[in-house]
This record gives sequence, C-alpha cells and structure tokens, in this order.
Amino acid sequence: MIILGIETSCDETAVSVARGAGNNVKALSNVVASQIEIHKKYGGVVPEVAAREHVLNILPVVNEALIKADLASTISLPSTGEKTPRPRHALSKSVDAIAVAVGPGLITSLLVGVETAKTLAYAWRVPVVAINHIEGHIYANWLTPIRNGKCQMTNVKNKIKFPVIILTVSGGHTMLVLMNGHGQYKVLGQTRDDAAGEAFDKAAQLLGLEYPGGPIVAAMAAKLQIGQKLSKLPRPMINDKSFDFSFSGLKTALLYEIQKDKQWEKKIPEYAAEFQQAVTDVLVHKTIKAALKYNCKNIMLSGGVAANQELRKQLGKAVKNKLPYAHLNIPELKYCTDNAAMIAAAGYYRAKRKDFTLWQKLKANANIELTN
Ligand code: KG4
Ligand code: ZN
Repeated sequence: MIILGIETSCDETAVSVARGAGNNVKALSNVVASQIEIHKKYGGVVPEVAAREHVLNILPVVNEALIKADLASTISLPSTGEKTPRPRHALSKSVDAIAVAVGPGLITSLLVGVETAKTLAYAWRVPVVAINHIEGHIYANWLTPIRNGKCQMTNVKNKIKFPVIILTVSGGHTMLVLMNGHGQYKVLGQTRDDAAGEAFDKAAQLLGLEYPGGPIVAAMAAKLQIGQKLSKLPRPMINDKSFDFSFSGLKTALLYEIQKDKQWEKKIPEYAAEFQQAVTDVLVHKTIKAALKYNCKNIMLSGGVAANQELRKQLGKAVKNKLPYAHLNIPELKYCTDNAAMIAAAGYYRAKRKDFTLWQKLKANANIELTN
C-alpha cells in the first residue's frame, strides 16, 4: 500500500510517500520545507507567517515527495522543450491513501494540509486517513527504528510487541502513553504547563541563544569542561505519584539563578548542561517508572526532543540497568522533529484497519486529544 503523508501542524511543510506491507512501513521519500530561518528573527513561530509559507510550499513539496518516491514521470514542456519532472497524471493508480495531520497544532497551519489532502483525495479518488500529530510522532518508531542502539534495517521484520510505553516529547507536548495495540492509546500523564521542547526554547531565550532552543542548548551543554561545578536546578515533579510533568518552574528557577549570578554570560555551558540534565532526569525517571508499573518490555521515545543525544543516551542506560529484559526504540533523527513520514506511517496502520474519514468530513482541530 502506498500512502502520501502530509504534515503542516506548525512551521514545517512536510510531505512523504511511504510503502506499507504486512507489519512493515518504509518511507520512500521524506521532504521537509523548514521555516526555521524565517521565524528565528521573532524568537518563535508566528502563526500567520507560518500559514502563508505553508500555502506557498505545499504543492511544490507534494511534487518533490512524489518525484523522490519515483511516482512521477519526466515530460517535455511544449514551449521550451525543457525536461522537467512532473507527477504522473494517473496518480490515483499509485497512491492508495492520503494521511494528513489534523491536529493538534496551529489552526491556520493545519488548514493548509487538511485542505490539500481533501483536494487531492477528491481529484485522485483515494481515501483519506485523519492522523493526530502526536500519533504521528509515536509512529516514527515504526520507520527503521534504532533498537537497542542499533539501526534496524527496513527489511528486517519489525518485532515491536505490545504493550509499549512511549515518551513523546516535543515543542507542543510532553506525554507518557501506554499502547496496547495499534491505535490504542492510554495517556498516563502529560505536562501541566510547558512542554519539554518549549522549556528548552524558553531556557535558550533566557541564555540569549537562538530559536529553536533545544539543539543550541544541547550544543552549549556539550561544551562543558569536565569537572566544572554546576549550579543546581530543581527536578520538578520527579517524586510525584502521577505520571504528569511540569517544566515552567524549572525555567523560572533558571531565570532566578542567572539573575543572582553577575558572571552568568561566561557560564552558559554550565547553565545549559544543568538545565538539560534536569529535564532529562525527570523524563528518564518517569518513563522507567511507567514501564515498571505496566510491565512493558518495549519502550519508545519520540518527538523533537527525542533528537537530544543526552536523553537518547541516558534513557538507553537506564533501560539497560533497570529493565535489562526490555527493548528501547528510538526513531532516526530525521523522524524525531516534525516530518510527514511519521504521518504516513501512522496512516498506513489506520488504513490497514480501513479507518478512513470521508474527505467531506475531514476537519482540522487545533486541540484534538490523543484517542483511539
Ligand atoms: O516535534 P517538533 O519538531 O515540533 C513539535 O511538534 O513541537 O519539536 C520541536 C521541539 C522544539 O521545542 C525544539 O527545541 C526541540 O523539539 N528540539 C530539541 C532538540 N532538537 C529539537 N530539544 C532538545 N534537544 C534537541 N537536540
Ligand atoms: Zn511535532
């Protein structure tokens, strides 16, 4: 089955073509038009600017994804004779379904992807699958996941076994999810205020670093000299009985620390490292606790913050120590931050169950919950 995935929930215009067969799904193309450079000067995503960029990008990105997946043919343009790749006309013969992220996200951004999916579904006469963006992040784990530190090749039978505990951490959400089967989600806990990625972005702003903050805070933390003393930040809710998170107090604690310290600008690697460690400690602790409580032998990480090397490494270590019988899956870096291959992958498993939505009924929903 060939699935065209569309993702426009925030500031990345992304389209992917994936092929699914049996219990495996593989991305044939994964095109992302990033708007980071545009939003950087504002220190964060400006929704109206993002939506307008999506409108400009979406069709060229659809074309590129089809071409890269070899679903387009080369034709001669009559006026110039110039050879240019164009999607084949009879595409409905190639694409079996369209999967689109319908939310959560920025409503004006989501609308661009949803309207594009509706139009293509009507024109190509193919069914549509509505995908929750968070579900997409989760399904990045079914695309050549890195299992126990090794990249699993796509031709190896995917051995993910339910139940699975998933830590999904991004700019917009932080969640611990128990999955008992494909499309069966139980949200065990989530952030009560800022998401982990949002906390990284705000910490970066406090430290005078660029947007998006996660990668740059991580790069600064990596510059820390061995043996340097760190100021101590809190580990919010680490000992709380629930599986919920809270990161806004951590950001405020960082603000107070640097306000007290006249030399803070000389110690950015120290503050970045301690902030990253505080977030990592809480995320790792709660994930292990959830896996133990629900007796899960499969643990997964997903979302933009899953690109963080320390989180990947330290969660790997904790699983090895505390749950030596368990497997840890982590998506490849390109499938951690927003992309459409993850939407196509989630779409494949829903399409297999014939869980389609009539294109006339397809709706963007900025606040949609993760439900079965
Ligand atoms: O999943 P994503 O691309 O978009 C949302 O759904 O929000 O995640 C973006 C978030 C940003 O907050 C960004 O700072 C964070 O992921 N991020 C990171 C890293 N790379 C991206 N956070 C920590 N370390 C990283 N290496
Ligand atoms: Zn995302």
